[in-house]
Amino acid sequence: MVRARTIALALPLLLAAACGKAGLREWRPEDHDSGVTSSSPISTTPTNDDPHASARAVFGSQCASCHGNEGRGDGPMAAMFRPADLSASALQSARTDAELAASITAGRGRMPAFGQNLRPEAVSALVRLIRSWRR
Ligand code: HEC
Repeated sequence: MVRARTIALALPLLLAAACGKAGLREWRPEDHDSGVTSSSPISTTPTNDDPHASARAVFGSQCASCHGNEGRGDGPMAAMFRPADLSASALQSARTDAELAASITAGRGRMPAFGQNLRPEAVSALVRLIRSWRR
């Protein structure tokens, strides 16, 4: 019993140490393209303390390259795509939730459509995350 508990406690630490090495992780098939398209829908299982945790994860992998981690329009590809600052209150008041969701699903300007990759619940969760950034 004692040994089993010790192992249960030590294992996550060992894994964390192994994975934390220089921030390296294994190559995944999604890495092949830039993350703009992904064939499998992303799970939106809600998690404990952060109500936006799953949306944040989706945003980080699918949207932040253009929009930046907090939607300010400062991602690494922003210079090429010129995305709007999603946190700007002018933009936020000018749009309904449905309009924001429609842009995510169908695309807008140079932004590709994400309707094929994201379930409707994931799109709603992204809209709530974007609303939480309003300045
Ligand atoms: C390839 C770059 C790129 C990616 C990736 C991208 N966007 Fe965009 N996004 C844009 C551009 C460009 C616009 C158009 C800017 C504008 O509306 O003037 C835009 C517009 C939007 C809008 C509408 C803003 C408005 O004016 O109403 C929303 C909402 C949005 N993006 C959310 C997302 C979300 C959520 C994701 C990830 C699922 C995402 N974007 C991924 C480039 C991108």
